[in-house]
Amino acid sequence: MAGPGAVESREEWNVEKQPKRDLFSEKAQDWDENELVRELSSAIGGTILKQVPFDAQMTILDFGAGTGLISAQLAPRVGRIVAVDTSQAMLERLAAKPELQGKVEAVCQDITQAGLDRRFDRIVSAMAMHHVADTDRLIGTFAEHLKPGGLLAVADLDTEDGTFHPEDAQGVHHHGFDRDALAAILERHGFEDIRFVTAHTVNKEGREYPVFLVTAKKGG
Ligand SMILES: C[S@@+](CC[C@H](N)C(=O)[O-])C[C@H]1O[C@@H](n2cnc3c(N)ncnc32)[C@H](O)[C@@H]1O
Repeated sequence: MAGPGAVESREEWNVEKQPKRDLFSEKAQDWDENELVRELSSAIGGTILKQVPFDAQMTILDFGAGTGLISAQLAPRVGRIVAVDTSQAMLERLAAKPELQGKVEAVCQDITQAGLDRRFDRIVSAMAMHHVADTDRLIGTFAEHLKPGGLLAVADLDTEDGTFHPEDAQGVHHHGFDRDALAAILERHGFEDIRFVTAHTVNKEGREYPVFLVTAKKGG
């Protein structure tokens, strides 16, 4: 397991937990410089902070944390963040950020295949769910990793026509999500108080793509 602020070295990886290819290895290089990404992550982070209470004792899981753009906004308000991602390249960018040292632990692992031996007060995720083929399994994984009464906050695209990503984009398993269908999956996994807000609308090449934030409480 990676230590605070560190990414496991390639040699230490458990190959069964790792993706076959790092689809974000090139994107990681200038991810933080992308204007659309910055605007979107800032809007999502701001909406999460508005909708979800945090305190300095809490431990947070950031699923699909990437370079840490969401974790960085939450870090001053919480005790500790575990930033999980399947892209070593994205996590290397996260781990290099001095402001996240000692607060954010980077873990390169597919937790839908091999879970963490920890439970969290909050799980947050921005724009990662459409990269996971089995949404039902992912929501089940979130439920397993939350403490009873813990809160989930997931942002992703509303249903779109497939034009958000380039035609040849790999690893895109969903063209956004239908809010009612997602709410039904959350209910099936024991989530309560399911609420949607629109966190942002991406304007890209003359088209508008709304992005929701859904919050929900783990029952029990
Ligand atoms: C669009 S990026 C978003 C990154 C970050 N949340 C942000 O808002 O800048 C999607 C991220 O999800 C990660 N990802 C895709 N499948 C994943 C999985 N099964 N488990 C964890 N992370 C995954 C990708 O590697 C990538 O870093």
